[in-house]
Amino acid sequence: MSKELIRLSNCTMAFDGEVVLNNIELSINDKEFLTLLGPSGCGKTTTLRIIGGFQKPTVGDVFFDGVRINDVPPHKRSVNTVFQKYALFTHLDVFENIAFGLQMLKPAISKEEISSRVMEMLEIVSLKGFERREVSSLSGGQQQRVAIARALVLRPKVLLLDEPLGALDLRLRKDMQNELKRIQQTMDITFIYVTHDQEEALAMSDTVVVMDGGVIQQIGTPEDIYNEPKNAFVADFIGESNIVDGIMKRDGVVEIFGRSFKCLDGGFAPDEPVDVVIRPEDVDIVEVGEGMLTGTVTNITFKGMQYDIIVDFRGFKWLIQTTDLSPVGARIGIKIDPDGIHIMKKSHYSGMFGDYSSYSAEYDDIGDASIEAEEEPEDDL
Ligand SMILES: Nc1ncnc2c1ncn2[C@@H]1O[C@H](COP(=O)(O)OP(=O)(O)O)[C@@H](O)[C@H]1O
Ligand SMILES: [Mg+2]
Repeated sequence: MSKELIRLSNCTMAFDGEVVLNNIELSINDKEFLTLLGPSGCGKTTTLRIIGGFQKPTVGDVFFDGVRINDVPPHKRSVNTVFQKYALFTHLDVFENIAFGLQMLKPAISKEEISSRVMEMLEIVSLKGFERREVSSLSGGQQQRVAIARALVLRPKVLLLDEPLGALDLRLRKDMQNELKRIQQTMDITFIYVTHDQEEALAMSDTVVVMDGGVIQQIGTPEDIYNEPKNAFVADFIGESNIVDGIMKRDGVVEIFGRSFKCLDGGFAPDEPVDVVIRPEDVDIVEVGEGMLTGTVTNITFKGMQYDIIVDFRGFKWLIQTTDLSPVGARIGIKIDPDGIHIMKKSHYSGMFGDYSSYSAEYDDIGDASIEAEEEPEDDL
């Protein structure tokens, strides 16, 4: 998985002068499951279309195995695409749908080889025994499997998948996520997957590319992206995050709400303003006197595994996940371990995300529930 297969170098795409992809630098390894993740309109499909050869970048180069392929048409690239709309041939059965591309091959291959390759694919996508079924008699998930088999039977080195599970219901999506991962591993090829669903991206990918506004915000493993988000956009888009202003006092010490907290980050200028991410599951609830901060519970939602509670600290509302029930109105203390505090550089996303005020109906009534700013917390430095 370590060998580079595809590279987008300095790729910019503009439509009628409007830049929709801005200076994309992306390296994709052979046999990698890479996901382009971001909100609608961020440029995922355009990036995929550039890789597939359906679009030429306005500026920049596309390389495949080290060879520049900007001018190579789609059918001459070792790349195939599965779309959200399956576009199966409804007048053909499952076998004929999958065989179609093979029958078009030049030079032609034998009927026996076509048959054995179609049957092999049916096995891989778990549709053995379905070869003579009408595609219209299949469920959405089964039709999507046929579409995947039809693309894979041509043995591309890379499969491009543009929100292929978007039309399926949640349960089926989860099943198909596992299936796709298994199929990718069985075929031992590169999958480049597009989704706006962060859970899907984290569940399936070796590498996640987070995009916004035509710009790559971060590239990393699912763990990297979740644990070490680069900026407030990534922190907010991947999972739930409380994002507050902080001041980096020195390596390993950040000031939040006028209090010093230990953290693991360093390398910032002295007193550099930063964004601080605290995940809801990393906050421990303790007795008021024992906490690093004190707040007031303003809202509770039972989530099965845990309660989501909204806690007001000086009018700034945090989401905290806890298995202990703290009633609305309760004063609670909180503790955060150093590895639960993640420091990010300020960016143009600062201040836009990570405040849960709108979650709480009582927001206007509570007003300024204060922290005990005069009290020094025990863990203070
Ligand atoms: N052929 C096109 N002509 C003009 N604008 C386009 C074209 N294709 C995409 N766009 C614009 O480029 C932006 C990115 O689109 P797209 O790559 O489809 O985003 P995503 O797949 O992330 O939702 C959008 O603002 C979209 O309207
Ligand atoms: Mg799209």
